[in-house]
Amino acid sequence: MKMKLFASDLDGTLLGTLFQTHAFTAQWLRIHPDRRPLLVYNTGRMLEDSLQVIEEFQLPVPDYIISGVGTGIYDCRQKCPLKEFSAMLQKGWDRAAVDEVISRLELDLLKQPEELQNEYKSSWYLEHASIDQLAAIQRKLEAQGLEITLVYSSSRDLDILPKWADKGSALVWLLNQLQIRSEETLVAGDSGNDGAMFLIQGVKGIIVGNAQPELYQMTAHLPVYRAVGVCVDGVIEGLTYYGVLDGKGD
Ligand code: GLC
Ligand code: MG
Repeated sequence: MKMKLFASDLDGTLLGTLFQTHAFTAQWLRIHPDRRPLLVYNTGRMLEDSLQVIEEFQLPVPDYIISGVGTGIYDCRQKCPLKEFSAMLQKGWDRAAVDEVISRLELDLLKQPEELQNEYKSSWYLEHASIDQLAAIQRKLEAQGLEITLVYSSSRDLDILPKWADKGSALVWLLNQLQIRSEETLVAGDSGNDGAMFLIQGVKGIIVGNAQPELYQMTAHLPVYRAVGVCVDGVIEGLTYYGVLDGKGD
């Protein structure tokens, strides 16, 4: 089936060495415009930071950027945020209350720097959290009437987000807006916060060879393409497997 949209994580996925990243850009732009899927970067980075890194690494300008672990969507052609998406996140969300509950927990939690926080994202470091610990944190938050999504990545990063925000929910919202079916969508990633994209029913997925164990665990039951190549090499391998690239690129 023809892929209409490719949504990829940046760090650990499309951001490899400069040399690798340039290879992606070259191969991507070589796809005939009629056959080239829409391009979406779906990242934990904030929007400004994402725009900077895209320029610095000379990645192709995407059609959309989903930033802050699915807490914002930006239309790169119109150069404007999709405000209807953010408006929806408000329901059941109270960042101050989330921060309060978390800071009272008797766990070794450290708040991430201010520039990594936003209105809809409360992010912390918690080394090697167990499934039980994460479930307990979720229960404590829900007991306060908060409607949240908890995302844990790289055995360290804990994001607490509104119920309808994470990389998967934001992508589903965008697919609905664009009227693109999940079966025509390909995703790529390397860590826990990408899991929600792979769990969208019907999407095709590429897991890069350097992925974190948690992503393999979350997708163990799914027919995703598990690449051998690291970062961009793995993405190119996967895009070739799914016929998006023709495999003849250098
Ligand atoms: C990015 C974000 C960080 C988040 C992590 C995992 O590194 O900067 O805030 O915790 O992704 O989602
Ligand atoms: Mg990543």
